[in-house]
Amino acid sequence: DQLPPHVIVLFGATGDLSRRKLLPGLAHLALSALAPDIEVIGTSLEDLSDEAFQGFANQALSEFSHRPLTKEQWEQFAGKLHYVPTSAGAEGLAAAVARSEERLGGNVPMLHYMSVPPVAAPAVINTLREAKLVENSRVVMEKPFGTDLASAIRLNDQVHETFREDQIFRIDHFLGKEAAQNILAFRFGNGLFEPIWNRQFIDHIQIDIPEKLGLDRRASFYEATGAFKDMIVTHLFQVLAFVAMEPPTALEPRAISEEKNKVFRSMLPIDTRNVVRGQYTGYRDEDGVARDSDTETFIALKVGIDNWRWAGVPFYLRTGKRMAEGQRIISIAFKEAPKSMFPPGSGVGQQGPDHLTFDLADESKVSLSFYGKRPGPGMKLDKLSMQFSTQETDRAADVLEAYERLIMDAMRDDHTLFTTAEGIESLWERSAPLLADPPPVKMYPPGSWGPNAIHQLIAPHAWRLPF
Ligand code: BG6
Repeated sequence: DQLPPHVIVLFGATGDLSRRKLLPGLAHLALSALAPDIEVIGTSLEDLSDEAFQGFANQALSEFSHRPLTKEQWEQFAGKLHYVPTSAGAEGLAAAVARSEERLGGNVPMLHYMSVPPVAAPAVINTLREAKLVENSRVVMEKPFGTDLASAIRLNDQVHETFREDQIFRIDHFLGKEAAQNILAFRFGNGLFEPIWNRQFIDHIQIDIPEKLGLDRRASFYEATGAFKDMIVTHLFQVLAFVAMEPPTALEPRAISEEKNKVFRSMLPIDTRNVVRGQYTGYRDEDGVARDSDTETFIALKVGIDNWRWAGVPFYLRTGKRMAEGQRIISIAFKEAPKSMFPPGSGVGQQGPDHLTFDLADESKVSLSFYGKRPGPGMKLDKLSMQFSTQETDRAADVLEAYERLIMDAMRDDHTLFTTAEGIESLWERSAPLLADPPPVKMYPPGSWGPNAIHQLIAPHAWRLPF
């Protein structure tokens, strides 16, 4: 499984994502047997030396790496880290890449990781073109992929002027989570669930990703983006497609993208009456936030997929900042038994419908909750659960962090877990009514589950969280 040598150019190297995820992920790949022969060239607006960048990376790793490095490991990784400021221009970057290639023994493939906002993307692409770093290269692009249909098309066109679609990897790190991939394994690796995976047996679906986290250092990004663009149009819709898609003809990128894109095309345009936008009290007092900001820090919505399998089955999505708990669950609620033969008070149905739940947390769990008999006399029923957790297997140490997995896949030229220009454009199109006329934000107290209106939105069902 070992990857061939690569030069990785990391644009936005001193940003938040780089600190939290990319540098720790690259360290793990470089120090494991997975990708030992990489050189990383960091680049950003800041004027740093190699040593200063290594210091930045050291700090990032000690704060965010799940696997603490020994001194020897750190020295080994630090030796692979170099830095070129944006001010060095295309020439400076080309020279740094050439030096890295020499250290790796000649002409090697490159991966350009664009951890930059969309406005900066055209400049990065120009630099790569001027530096002649386009051939033998792949680019990883970070969301947001535009802010509406027109800007997404514009961005895609700009990138396509330099890179072919097969060189572009639009990353959605939720698809790199072990549990998201387990949705595919679970659905298509078993005969048990697929026959009931439709409107005849499924009552509704919840994709619920509350976060305790606030803005952290990202106020200006967040203020301009909001929860819908930051989370729903990217991560939650992508996960929804894994849940809702038809079986692909093969587990290969083109077949999967085709099926996902069909889901996006079948999504009903968002009806703003089915949307609750929220803002936590105190958001407007945060640094970098407008005093009259209308940015949503919370959103819940009901969407429908108008196809044969899902007609009439509501999908409820919710996510927000500064909420009561941090959770990432997908919950499939099954229909009730057609007739209850249990006496009143037996407990059946009292704790909601039976559910299948995928937990997208790092431990990755799948659980099935159902009614079963309470031990003892009489016939009382309790909600019971069967559960699988990767933590409980002897393979727990093999779990790759989402970014590690996806960076590896991009180096391997495997598009399976990446999104396509076409899919993204359909999602923006479906979102147009909400973007054009967003309902006003409702306030919610930090540490809560969102504004009260979330209960009306899901009625007659109930949110599965809190457990
Ligand atoms: C990012 C969003 O893409 O995903 C963040 O920009 C969010 O706002 C994060 O906190 C959540 O990712 P994870 O992997 O921590 O669930």
